[in-house]
Amino acid sequence: MQIRQTNQGFNFDNYPTFDKNIDPKQRAWIEVRGKAVEKNVKYLRSKLSKNCQFMAVVKADGYGHDAKLVSEYAIKGGASQLGVATLKEGIKLRSSEVKKPILILGNLYTKRDLIVSFKNDLMPTISSIRECLICNNIGKHFGLKFSLHLKVDTGMSRLGFEYSKFIQQFEKIKSFENISIEGIYSHLSSADEENSLDPQSTTQLQKQKFQELLKQINVDRNHNIKIHLANSAGMLLNKDFHFQMVRVGLSMYGYSPLSKINKYLSLKPALYLKVKVAFIRIIDKGVRVSYGGKFVSSRKTKLAVLSIGYADGVPRNLSGKIKVIHNNKLYPQVGSITMDQMMVDITGSNDIKIGSTMVLLGSDGDKTISPLDWARESNTIPWEILCSFKNRLPRVQVD
Ligand SMILES: Cc1ncc(COP(=O)(O)O)c(C=O)c1O
Repeated sequence: MQIRQTNQGFNFDNYPTFDKNIDPKQRAWIEVRGKAVEKNVKYLRSKLSKNCQFMAVVKADGYGHDAKLVSEYAIKGGASQLGVATLKEGIKLRSSEVKKPILILGNLYTKRDLIVSFKNDLMPTISSIRECLICNNIGKHFGLKFSLHLKVDTGMSRLGFEYSKFIQQFEKIKSFENISIEGIYSHLSSADEENSLDPQSTTQLQKQKFQELLKQINVDRNHNIKIHLANSAGMLLNKDFHFQMVRVGLSMYGYSPLSKINKYLSLKPALYLKVKVAFIRIIDKGVRVSYGGKFVSSRKTKLAVLSIGYADGVPRNLSGKIKVIHNNKLYPQVGSITMDQMMVDITGSNDIKIGSTMVLLGSDGDKTISPLDWARESNTIPWEILCSFKNRLPRVQVD
């Protein structure tokens, strides 16, 4: 298509006009290391007994990594099931040719959503008799069995059947002919707390409650129903939490929720956050930097302006608290993080130029910055850091 020609001899035809032609590494991007996910799953699976299945939790677009890509590598590493949060996430994954069983961990409560789930071969999480009945009717209508997992609340007070009523309700559910109970599960509320191995901890009491319930409904290990309780932290605590399946998110992406044992585990971060230097300026001593002038230079200072900000998902409350890596050296971020840019003090460096790449998360040489560091500094959890990255950051596959 002929667009425009200048009389200075530029031929604009040679330049991209569409988003897809723009270099994904033009500004800031997330590198996703699929092989790291594969290795992490293999490593984590080596801690499970042979009959225990591994569900890769790929909700929230694979914790911000790209659900399709992460699922592919998790399956290569031995994941036999996938967990998503929403119907839409499940449909997207199914339509990307993923054949493994997919469990929707969130709640579907309308007949329409449950039909859509059934038609897309997705298993819903069921928390009430009412939802069971709808599923049974759908199964009956199509002359098939509707596969689903039942969830019981053992202390999270979120989704799940009420613990005290479940035993009685289970008798009724068993009589529904057009549903197939593929799993019974519960979710740990506090497994990442330091006292989780203490017999009186919330986590141990939740497990005991769950085991008691299983005994009462007489679901033993020979049964086809998969029993599952553990998230990453539960899985790493010990084998008593494994049952027939574990549902693992965070540690599959390379981070242990149990900070004390992180360094003893062979987990590889799957996400690197990188950014280009968009501009370099030198300021005198005593100059205010960024909104509110919260940083004032104490000497002549060389600043690199990086093309990334809170609109990309970098928490603004990390302003002045993080470092950035270039060529195995750490540089402090200074002044308020703005919507689209942040400034870094690179005084003394000669090798950083406009267009240089800096690492915000990940490793360079022997320096590493992890979402666990960011979470600590911004008073949140690593899950939130990973899920905050916006679509404005292209995901680039690297292996
Ligand atoms: C029901 C359920 N199971 C498993 C997980 C995975 O947890 P983690 O990322 O700690 O492994 C989650 C995540 O929040 C969840 O909601």
